[in-house]
Amino acid sequence: MPPSTATVSGLLDSIAPVGRDGGTGGYRRPVFSHPELELREWFEAEATRRGLGVEIDRNGIIWAWWGEPMPGALVTGSHLDSVPGGGAFDGPLGVVSALVAIDRMRERGVVPSRSLAVVVFPEEEGSRFGVACLGSRLLTGLLTPDAARRLTDRDGNTLADVFAGAGVDPEHLGPDPEGLARIGQFVELHVEQGRGLVDLAAPIAIGSSILGHGRWKATVTGQGNHAGTTLMSDRADPVVAAAAIVGLISELARARDDARATVGRFEPQPGGTNVIASHVDFWIDVRHPDDSVTRGLVDQIAVEAAALAASYGCDARIAEESWSPTVGFDPALGRALADLVPGAPVLRSGAGHDAGILAARVPSAMLFVRNPSGISHSPEEFVERSDADDSADVLADVLEGLL
Ligand code: GLV
Ligand code: MN
Ligand code: MN
Repeated sequence: MPPSTATVSGLLDSIAPVGRDGGTGGYRRPVFSHPELELREWFEAEATRRGLGVEIDRNGIIWAWWGEPMPGALVTGSHLDSVPGGGAFDGPLGVVSALVAIDRMRERGVVPSRSLAVVVFPEEEGSRFGVACLGSRLLTGLLTPDAARRLTDRDGNTLADVFAGAGVDPEHLGPDPEGLARIGQFVELHVEQGRGLVDLAAPIAIGSSILGHGRWKATVTGQGNHAGTTLMSDRADPVVAAAAIVGLISELARARDDARATVGRFEPQPGGTNVIASHVDFWIDVRHPDDSVTRGLVDQIAVEAAALAASYGCDARIAEESWSPTVGFDPALGRALADLVPGAPVLRSGAGHDAGILAARVPSAMLFVRNPSGISHSPEEFVERSDADDSADVLADVLEGLL
């Protein structure tokens, strides 16, 4: 058994060096990379130290059980993978606070009337294989195993090979009705990723919904050529066309109230300083609370991008990589959380979460912890030590109240 002195801030300190860039301070913990595997091992050791029964399911989701695995259990947890250059809290805060919440409940003498599990979902960020919330999508059947196995990372490794290398048999990936039935209710605690709580001067909020969001891959094709011998008038340069399209995307999103559109990954090929690229791949993330607005915006981007590319002698195509509709969390569970965390404000989330995927199938809820910088997916993401430590007490209150 761990000393009862374990704290969220102390446990976060212990994993802080894993996957951190010494220069920027940002984290790079793609699913099943060395750093993420190290964190998964760390989690299993912490869970085992607490006497929790650890199992890894067919989709690579780690479950740590307080009590026997059973249908209808109370489940909490989050993820340990990160975006490139991410912060220390997006994912780990929910995992670590779940472990410490169990310590707190035990110190209080709580005897659970049903089993409780802490889960760690793989590839929540989709930063390696492009599909966000990959583990929970596989679990719920929202992503077919065939489609998952075919995904590749930036180095051309297939998901099938990477999962096999991490000890998860890719032949067994897929919908898991038994696993899903074990989730009676799911509560995910997460760092807040905007300024909602800072502006309200409150430490913790209850989530109401998640903005619909999706990812599209754009490919702009032109004529690869020589930087010195090709006159400007003779070029079909896809980088110039793609840059104009990126500007257009921002303008179209700004023209719609509450829309967000982002191009955060832009890859000219083959990528040489003295080479006019032959094509450019870039990825578009689009979000809006109204799914028809998101869809309409993407359709407009596709039509106008094609016309714009043609004006540069290029061709542009856009293909969907993942889609998550706007989702509201379970109202009854939300009311229960409101009673258990009195005075907590209610916030919608602009960020996606596994809780949003699960919400379509099981009663789900989220808690958000104040982030004084209001910044996330960046090394500046932050949580005060006292708020991190308090989050375990709040989560313990919530879990105890729901057990
Ligand atoms: C994950 O944090 C996302 O919102 O993309
Ligand atoms: Mn997250
Ligand atoms: Mn994230």
